[in-house]
Formats: sequence, structure tokens, C-alpha cells
Amino acid sequence: MNLKLITTLLIISGIFACTKQSQSSDSAEMYEPSELSQMMRDMVTWSKETKLLLLKGEVIDDVPNQFYELASQKATRDEHKDAAFQGMVPEYLEALKGIDRKDSQQYYYDASIQACKTCHAVYCGGPLSIINQL
Ligand code: HEC
Repeated sequence: MNLKLITTLLIISGIFACTKQSQSSDSAEMYEPSELSQMMRDMVTWSKETKLLLLKGEVIDDVPNQFYELASQKATRDEHKDAAFQGMVPEYLEALKGIDRKDSQQYYYDASIQACKTCHAVYCGGPLSIINQL
């Protein structure tokens, strides 16, 4: 096997690891995202908007408060109970605090996306293709 194939297989297995529950349920519509999945989706939406506002040179003054509750959101496979997961949450929250302080917001925005990558390098690599566009 060449390296490219191995990488592709790893990426595919990462996607499956993250969508196991939706695959085993009867229909896609019946799939209830976990609390953590739902928050991740909100984080994607907010990060996209924030990126555009920063590009326009605007000041960000609406970091959603609920993102600070990241560590307590229930995950599909109880990832939120892992020490590894808990250990990587502060990197993201520190970046959000920087944005909240209105202190070098572009710097802290970039740090927030770096925090997504840090955690997703360990937990389900599937969303990395989305994260890389943020
Ligand atoms: C501390 C770890 C951690 C951080 C930081 C993190 N994620 Fe996640 N993410 C996870 C875990 C674990 C899951 C799987 C959740 C589940 O299945 O319940 C997940 C799931 C996702 C999903 C899939 C959601 C779905 O539809 O099921 C997306 C997209 C995502 N994350 C994007 C992001 C983005 C964007 C950021 C940064 C703004 C981010 N993540 C930061 C751990 C993290």
C-alpha cells in the first residue's frame, strides 16, 4: 500500500468513528446529535461568521456564552469523560477569552481554530476538512 492510500483509509475510518451512531439508526432523520455534536455545529457556524467579520475589519463582540460549557456537553461515546478531552478544552476556551477581551482578535481567532485541530487530531479526524476552511 502506498502512503496516499493509507492516509485516505485513515481519514475514512476517522469519519466512520464520528458517525457510527447515525449509520446504525434506521434513518438519517432519526439521528439525534449529541449535546457535544450540536455545540460543535454551532461552533462551526459561529467561526465561519467570525472569520468573515474579521476579514471586513469588524470587532467581534458576541462570543456565545454556551461555548464556555464545552467541557460538560455529553458526547456520543462519552468522549467528554476522557482526561484527554478535558485536557484539550482549555486551549479552546483561552482563545475564546482572548476574543472576548477584544485583544488581537485575529490572533485569538486563529488560536481557536488551532485548538479545534489539536483536539481533532486525537478525536475523530473527519471534521478536519471543515475545520481547515475556518
Ligand atoms: C476538546 C476537544 C475538541 C475541540 C476543542 C473541538 N472539537 Fe469538534 N469534536 C470533538 C469530539 C469529541 C466530537 C464528537 C462529538 C460526538 O460525536 O458527540 C467532535 C465533533 C465535531 C464535529 C462533528 C459534529 C457532528 O455533526 O456530529 C465537527 C464539525 C467539529 N467537531 C468541529 C469542530 C470545530 C470547528 C472546532 C473548533 C471551533 C472543534 N470541533 C473543537 C472534540 C473537539
